[in-house]
Amino acid sequence: MLVYTPSGLIAQHGLLLLLLLAAWKAGSGQVHYSVPEEAKHGTFVGRIAQDLGLELAELVPRLFRLASKGHGDLLEVNLQNGILFVNSRIDREELCGRSAECSIHLEVIVDRPLQVFHVEVEVKDINDNAPIFSVSEQKLSIPESRLLDSRFPLEGASDADVGENAVLTYRLSPNEFFILDIINKKDKGKFPVLVLGKMLDREENPQLQLLLTATDGGKPEYTGSVTLLILVLDANDNAPIFDRSVYEVKMYENSANQTLVIWLNASDADEGINKEMIYSFSALVSPSIRRKFLMNEKTGEIRVNDAIDFEDSNTYEIHVDVTDRGNPPMVSHCTVLVEVLDENDNPPEVVITSLALPVQEDAQVGTVIALISVTDHDSGANGQVTCSLTPQGPFKLVSTFKNYYSLVLDSALDRESVANYALVVTARDGGSPSLSATASVSVEVADVNDNAPAFAQPEYTVFVKENNPPGCHIFTVSARDADAQENALVSYSLVERRVGERALSSYVSVHAESGKVYALQPLDHEELELLQFQVSARDAGVPPLGSNVTLQVFVLDENDNAPALLPLPGARGGGGALSEPPAAGGARSPFRVALYTGEISTTRALDEADAPRQRLLVLVKDHGEPALTATATVLLSLVESGQAPRPSSRVLAGGAGAGAGAGAALVDVNVYLIVAICAVSSLLVLTLLLSTALRCSAPPSEGACGPGKPTLVCSSAVGSWSYSQQRRQRVCSGEGPPKADLMAFSPSLPPCPVPDVEMEGESSGGDYSGKVGYYFFNFHMLICE
Ligand SMILES: *[C@@H]1O[C@H](CO)[C@@H](O)[C@H](O)[C@H]1NC(C)=O
Ligand SMILES: *[C@@H]1O[C@H](CO)[C@@H](O)[C@H](O)[C@H]1NC(C)=O
Ligand SMILES: *[C@@H]1O[C@H](CO)[C@@H](O)[C@H](O)[C@H]1NC(C)=O
Repeated sequence: MLVYTPSGLIAQHGLLLLLLLAAWKAGSGQVHYSVPEEAKHGTFVGRIAQDLGLELAELVPRLFRLASKGHGDLLEVNLQNGILFVNSRIDREELCGRSAECSIHLEVIVDRPLQVFHVEVEVKDINDNAPIFSVSEQKLSIPESRLLDSRFPLEGASDADVGENAVLTYRLSPNEFFILDIINKKDKGKFPVLVLGKMLDREENPQLQLLLTATDGGKPEYTGSVTLLILVLDANDNAPIFDRSVYEVKMYENSANQTLVIWLNASDADEGINKEMIYSFSALVSPSIRRKFLMNEKTGEIRVNDAIDFEDSNTYEIHVDVTDRGNPPMVSHCTVLVEVLDENDNPPEVVITSLALPVQEDAQVGTVIALISVTDHDSGANGQVTCSLTPQGPFKLVSTFKNYYSLVLDSALDRESVANYALVVTARDGGSPSLSATASVSVEVADVNDNAPAFAQPEYTVFVKENNPPGCHIFTVSARDADAQENALVSYSLVERRVGERALSSYVSVHAESGKVYALQPLDHEELELLQFQVSARDAGVPPLGSNVTLQVFVLDENDNAPALLPLPGARGGGGALSEPPAAGGARSPFRVALYTGEISTTRALDEADAPRQRLLVLVKDHGEPALTATATVLLSLVESGQAPRPSSRVLAGGAGAGAGAGAALVDVNVYLIVAICAVSSLLVLTLLLSTALRCSAPPSEGACGPGKPTLVCSSAVGSWSYSQQRRQRVCSGEGPPKADLMAFSPSLPPCPVPDVEMEGESSGGDYSGKVGYYFFNFHMLICE
């Protein structure tokens, strides 16, 4: 735009003009152009020569020139056509900064005459500058705990342009937390402010990156942007947490010290000291648990610190707190349930709770003798106990209830065979390896009077010599009783009966305690050969038991009877005849007597020289000790042949050494024959008996008064031998051939061998009872083993 001012003409006049010029310059009337900044080289600005009223032709001669204070050659004038054009790049912002007005002051100087013109070239702004932020990235640290609507001022952008080109608007990249607010500054411009529209959470978004863009008002518009890096600062807003609220742990009892029970790992979403945690037992945890377990505060390891015994406690409930170090600290909890598993570390215990001892031997099968209880503190199979009994004996264990047993009688007892049982009860649990315990029971069997006194033999044979002194101890009976104490206390008594006219008790008595049998009066063999009676033994039990024994007391013969001579019937001569003086001392006697047969025979023929009457004295002597004798006087009358013989004899019996010489009777010749035959037979018998006796190696009988040995005579102990009623040997006589007739034992069992002796005569023994008896020897006892 051209502005023509008339004052330019005036300035052409001299020094005054220079002064005026100054005033003019200060005033108005200048040539005024305008050019946009950043115009290209050669851009037309104005026809400066014409506008100043200068002729083109005079420009050169008058040394037309431009002077610009400090602005160099931004503008140039074409001297040919007088046009002002842009010579080099003009940056308004460089020239004038942020001032709203910007112009280049040109002085146009011409000489001849010297003239100075002032030209103003206004540099017009174009939007050639974008808004600029001072930094490319702005960092903001915002605690996550900041409240909503908190404001955070930001540094705004600047724009080198002016005017509309410098009017900025701001935009924030889309985000959920912040909104942008614009504050208009009082002086100029405006600046952006971040406003918290939603609570921050460091744990979720520890940092945010936003873009703030400023846009100017130019056409075209320019933008500038800055990155907002928002660091969300931690607040202790998270408690530590366990991944579970309850932890279940199983561990064996007797675990070693310091065994790890559980390693707790809490986590805290915060950071720094806000996530540093301290583990501890909660206040609820009892002192006993604190003793048993050790908590590592820092690591959260719980370890065993003391003996863990299932039987003490099989579960532990440990409450654990974890606290962070934030301010204020945050706490959370968990529970550790420790289940203790059983180990077979307890042996069973056996207790015998009650005993019914001693046990009567007649106790019923099934009687309970003892109650046994077993316990095992372990559980499960480790605590399951089985009981056994050794040795079994007549007992058994019966399980009455779980872990309760009865010791029960299983079969009959007999104190007499076993009086005491030592039993061992063994309890064994089901653990692996199993443990066991034992208890011993001593079962004593109490006596019951179930055994009668017993004699060794049912029958005893006793030999007693006759003529024993009164009160003589003849035998001792003894019965054993297998029971105990009073049940075995035996007393003896006589089983009373009658013996003939008299009571048995007048013969013998039995001492109640000792069992000694006494003969109360002298026994007479000739009166009573055998005394048979029973002794009863009774024990003192309730009720008492008893048994009997039979005693056979043989009264042994003593040589207390002298031989007696009796005339045989038919041998008696007529009338008594006087006897000769004893022939013993005489010279040659025509008679002789056989030593054993008693046979009297003539030694020579008798003639008239012999006295018609002969008196013979026969001495009969037994073999007893001492020997007893009898004498007989035989009177012989010698008669002529054809006369009937009339023998007579007188028999005299007497004690030992007793004088002979009693009356004599005549003995028939037959007598001699009989005597002879009997003597021979007797000799045979004697021989047999002696040999038998030797074979039986019989000791001779003891003293007359003393208990005989309880053995049987020539018979078996079991035999029911019967003693012959007649023990006498008899000499039998008669007209016929003599018969041996021996009285010996006649047991029903095979007797001692006396085989060849005929016994027939026995039956006719009664016939001879009144006749001459002839004792060969005293019959003592023969003892067979
Ligand atoms: C805790 O961490 C340790 C080490 O990583 C691990 O051995 C243990 O099993 C963890 N405890 C729990 C309860 O998960
Ligand atoms: C277990 O070990 C700890 C630490 O060594 C000790 O203090 C404690 O007495 C031990 N406990 C037993 C029962 O030995
Ligand atoms: C013993 O003998 C007597 C008399 O004969 C009799 O009464 C009693 O029963 C007998 N005792 C025994 C145990 O046999």
